[in-house]
Amino acid sequence: MKTKQEHSAAGAVISLDRPVVLIGLMGAGKTRIGRLLGEALGVEFIDSDDEIEKAAGMSVADIFECFGEKSFRDGEARVLRRLLGDGVKVIATGGGAVMTPETADLIWNESLSIWLKADIPVILERTARTDKRPLLQVPDPERILRALVERRDPVYQRADIVIESGDEDAERVLEKVLEALRRYSKEEKE
Ligand code: S3P
Repeated sequence: MKTKQEHSAAGAVISLDRPVVLIGLMGAGKTRIGRLLGEALGVEFIDSDDEIEKAAGMSVADIFECFGEKSFRDGEARVLRRLLGDGVKVIATGGGAVMTPETADLIWNESLSIWLKADIPVILERTARTDKRPLLQVPDPERILRALVERRDPVYQRADIVIESGDEDAERVLEKVLEALRRYSKEEKE
């Protein structure tokens, strides 16, 4: 049986018995909010892309370039299987992680999932600042993002909690996440 851990954040008690997993498109704020959430809950924060890079000894962009997306997805599935079986923590996933069926099953069954939902203009603006996302290194990233939204939103929608992350500042998004977690954890108790 899993033990519930009580975490006190922003004056509210949040009970967790499984990892909290952030899902959503590139640039939605999963890493930024995940780090703040880990601090607020007093649990470890892990970014799955960082873990994949550590395991491979190379960047996500280089994995895509040298070995292709399929190889990246295999590594991503392995890393998430390990992280999801390893107790209460906050995990930020890469935007495509839930499109691998075994990974999605693990996320729906073994974690408390939160979809950080942001609009395309916000995502375009944020992702244009870096060349770290291989899928968006194309002449028309907006077209790619629209296709990803169409394919992925119906999957992201299965998350336990949905938070509009929009272009609000990170502190405000964190407040919304904590409030939703508090409500969720209270409903689970009742
Ligand atoms: C991807 C998202 C990226 C990274 C890789 C592929 C995707 O992570 O895993 O570039 O398919 O959406 P972030 O969502 O953290 O940018």
